[in-house]
Amino acid sequence: METITNKLSKLIGEAFNKTGYVLNDCKVVKCVIEGYGDFQCNDAMQIAKQYKKAPFLIAEEVVKNIPSNNIIENCYVVKPGFINIVINNQFLCEYVSSYIENLDENVKDLTGVKKNIIVDYGGANVAKPLHIGHLRSAIIGESVKRICAYLGNKTLGDVHLGDWGLQMGMIISEIKLQKPDLVYFDDSYTGEYPSESPVTIEDLSVIYPTASSRAKSDENFMNEARKATFELQNGKRGYRELWKKFMEVSLVDLKKNYEALNVHFDLWLGESDANKYCWDMIEKLKKDGFAYESEGAYVVDVSNDQDKVEIPPFMLVKTDGSILYSTTDLATIILREKEYDVDKIIYLADNRQSLHFTQLFRCAQKTNLLTKNIELNFASFGTMNGKDGKPYKTRDGGVMKLSNLIDEVTQKALEKVKVARGQNLTDEEMLNISDVVALASLKFADLSNYRTKDYVFDLDKFCSFEGKTGPYILYTITRIKSLLKKCGEKNLDNFNCNVYSTAERDILIHLSQFDSYLMASYNDFAPSYLCDYVYNLANLFSAFYSQCNISKEQDETKQASWMKLSNYCLTILEKVLDLLAIKTLDKM
Ligand code: ARG
Repeated sequence: METITNKLSKLIGEAFNKTGYVLNDCKVVKCVIEGYGDFQCNDAMQIAKQYKKAPFLIAEEVVKNIPSNNIIENCYVVKPGFINIVINNQFLCEYVSSYIENLDENVKDLTGVKKNIIVDYGGANVAKPLHIGHLRSAIIGESVKRICAYLGNKTLGDVHLGDWGLQMGMIISEIKLQKPDLVYFDDSYTGEYPSESPVTIEDLSVIYPTASSRAKSDENFMNEARKATFELQNGKRGYRELWKKFMEVSLVDLKKNYEALNVHFDLWLGESDANKYCWDMIEKLKKDGFAYESEGAYVVDVSNDQDKVEIPPFMLVKTDGSILYSTTDLATIILREKEYDVDKIIYLADNRQSLHFTQLFRCAQKTNLLTKNIELNFASFGTMNGKDGKPYKTRDGGVMKLSNLIDEVTQKALEKVKVARGQNLTDEEMLNISDVVALASLKFADLSNYRTKDYVFDLDKFCSFEGKTGPYILYTITRIKSLLKKCGEKNLDNFNCNVYSTAERDILIHLSQFDSYLMASYNDFAPSYLCDYVYNLANLFSAFYSQCNISKEQDETKQASWMKLSNYCLTILEKVLDLLAIKTLDKM
């Protein structure tokens, strides 16, 4: 279905041409200032210089030549040359009705050629607990993935686990130190390895920090860890088997954590899965003259003359012979091309990784490793800060674990639900509701900030039932649901949606703009546009709801129209929350 702005752009574009002005790409946009119509075209100002004529005069001429149509109710010119357009009510109602009643199909028309997209998000590191640094990646990535898929692209989410770097060697060396008699460390052993893991997830949560601080103070240990990493990467049997065991244990825990966040990956691949492509890739890069030796390591130059800051060479092999984060990331692109025929990759990671991704993309593009032109995008994000403006920490100053954070938010949500809705709910309902409210609070607060911005963790604000928050949107949804229930079962098929007041008109105009917010979120990997959109929609609905006594309305046609409109709001609110991966409630 053609969008309303496209239809209008065509009409006004035709009028320009008919008047004798050549305009290749006439643009009509939503009017943002109240009282100046619903839409506007600013192109008269654009061409005024070229035609040496006052834009006001051009616009006046153009308006007279608009082809007859059923869309525009009124069109007028405002100085210096804006063409302001008021939409016909009947058209507006019919447009929105047919748009929303076939929403899913209509949305697919918004993009042309569909792509194979991989969204690389989550990025958890094996054997280290998830912390809030991984939270934004999971939350934004899940939404970006859903938006890509909703627009009809074949989309896969890949968690890209951190499972192949030096921290793996550290863990192996630490286990070796603590339990040297384990069969994994017996080089002469040729039998089968035990099916039980020698370590639990609780063990691992202690092993990694111990190993990491040991490596900082003990050079021998660090060298051991480097050697173990190299040997693991090159297939040492005992290490591979031990690694598999702690991978299994770690994965169970990670899956549980992501599940709790309503974040679901299609691919549970990691850096290690690219290992099989790494070594040939390195050989090829050496042979083709891209990779060269530098102080015992192998690197590829990725700087260029236009660089304003220095972009250092991209390292692929360390002096100890092991490969690293950058190597597996490069080889992962090869894997994704070969095994998934990917056209476009979207990486979600912290702003602070921007140098890495600049190097990675340049390296992939200059080295002819890929057979087609894959679009590589870095969707970076800022940090979640404490009130002191620094990355959020626990009360004792440590890095906050994700599971503790969620507990904290759930506690606050429960408090808020009790205060706001306590008298209407049983204890059990309250507990169930506060789980959903907690995640909605956290996710909406995160997503509603434009992704590159840092934001402050403020539980009171996030969990509030008023303002631009998750709970407010959830509450609006339950209000519409209970309103519709109160109005009783009614077959609305034989009724139309009409306009009786400006409150309804404002909603219809806003509903007609869903596509542009959705596309902004898609193009910019930024669900924040959709958050703005639903917040405005919830406000418009609240205004309409307080002006019109919908459930008590005696005029059947009027009541049916209002119910239809409420239903449209509900459809879009629920759709957007689904795209944000926020669960909704029937009652709260
Ligand atoms: N594991 C990384 C980290 O914790 C994030 C991975 C991001 N994705 C990627 N393909 N590099 O920082």
